Amino acid sequence: MTVEPITDDAGNLLGPEAVADPYGFFGALREDDPVHWNERYRSWVITRYADVAAAFRDERFSADRIGPYLEASSRTMDGGLRATFAVLSDWLVFKDPPDHTRLRRLVHRAFTPRAVTRMQERVASIADELIDAFADDGEADLIESFAYPLPAIVIAEMLGVPAEDRDLFKRWSDDLSGLVFGGMEDPNRHRRAVSGMAELVEYLEGLIQRYTAQPEENLITSLVRAREEHDQLSEAEVVATCTLLLFGGHETTTNLIGNGLLALLEHPAERRRLQEDPALTKGAVEEILRFDGPAKAVARLMKDDVVLHGRTLRRGDRVFLVPAAANRDPRQFAEPDRFDVGRGDSSHLGFGFGIHYCLGAPLARLEGTIAIRLLLERLPSLALAAESLDWHPVLLSRGLRRLPVVFGT
Ligand code: HEM
Repeated sequence: MTVEPITDDAGNLLGPEAVADPYGFFGALREDDPVHWNERYRSWVITRYADVAAAFRDERFSADRIGPYLEASSRTMDGGLRATFAVLSDWLVFKDPPDHTRLRRLVHRAFTPRAVTRMQERVASIADELIDAFADDGEADLIESFAYPLPAIVIAEMLGVPAEDRDLFKRWSDDLSGLVFGGMEDPNRHRRAVSGMAELVEYLEGLIQRYTAQPEENLITSLVRAREEHDQLSEAEVVATCTLLLFGGHETTTNLIGNGLLALLEHPAERRRLQEDPALTKGAVEEILRFDGPAKAVARLMKDDVVLHGRTLRRGDRVFLVPAAANRDPRQFAEPDRFDVGRGDSSHLGFGFGIHYCLGAPLARLEGTIAIRLLLERLPSLALAAESLDWHPVLLSRGLRRLPVVFGT
């Protein structure tokens, strides 16, 4: 979860350098101080591939980073913030077994590979419609016009959100983003998250009632059914899971598409390879997840003491596992800083690892592959039109605010 505002510049995980080039910043830690104590954030920062992968699989590195925080601060928190954290504490990504096991099994039942495959044609036609809307303009911001709306529309449709309500969802998701991804630059992030979450929960309760009365083929109906058949999912957990899927399905995939297009625009030879052989696109998406994936860091809370490279991580300490550094670890990947769409290695940690491995990975891969293939096919002359890049200054995710491009019409 998020960390407190910061005051001095030493070890600034969110300083301009770390935000613009996390690979240089966290790569230096990986080589010189692989289990780094960051005084400013009062957190450990773990950066080597083998250590990050092992920590993802080690139950002493607890995913439950909301419950203890809620317990410790609930007396001083106002009611709205407490309610927001209460929803987050029901997200399975923030749970340890046995609750995690139970929730994941139920969500998995709704969010099946079949449900994802069914979306294939729909994803392509949404992507085509989005490209149609700007294809004659000769220029576009690919985040705003393409990478953002595509996954947002897809997850809204999968959940069963009526098309006319999509814009509301965008606002609520943006409201929550600063809190969940550690966006310290927004002083209003708590207030925004509280109002966004309250409205979202109220809206979802309405949809759940509607699909309980009149089931349709969508994820909300499947979750309601899972609750009714197995009686193992509380009403609050159904609502929380919908907010998690909505949120998980939005911004991360936007960043996969945005970071991927940027990597291709900055590596013309790789982009040509892909244009000449679109069958490489699936593998290219894996390489994007490794080379510049959306999950920069993932937080954990120590449940027990652990000694690693001679340092003692104490029970209660916060830890950041950094896939952005692990995925460029020369101990794991040959020439890790080279972007190679034909690398053929999907052992990256871009979707995490172990019991919390991303449940949405098949959907993200499908969307990323279709989006990149179609865009390169339809706008083959695409070129970057930005002098400098503007990255979201957040700790846990990596994504562009804008991706301005020009192209021949
Ligand atoms: C490229 C896009 C995506 C990336 C990079 C990504 C990344 C991740 C990562 C790193 C985790 C593990 C977090 C942890 O261990 O604490 C995770 C978990 C999760 N993701 Fe994704 N994700 C993406 C897309 C999606 C989509 C599209 C959905 C759903 C619509 C989704 C739903 C989830 C869920 C439900 C979990 C929790 C799984 C669990 O705790 O067992 N993700 N994701």
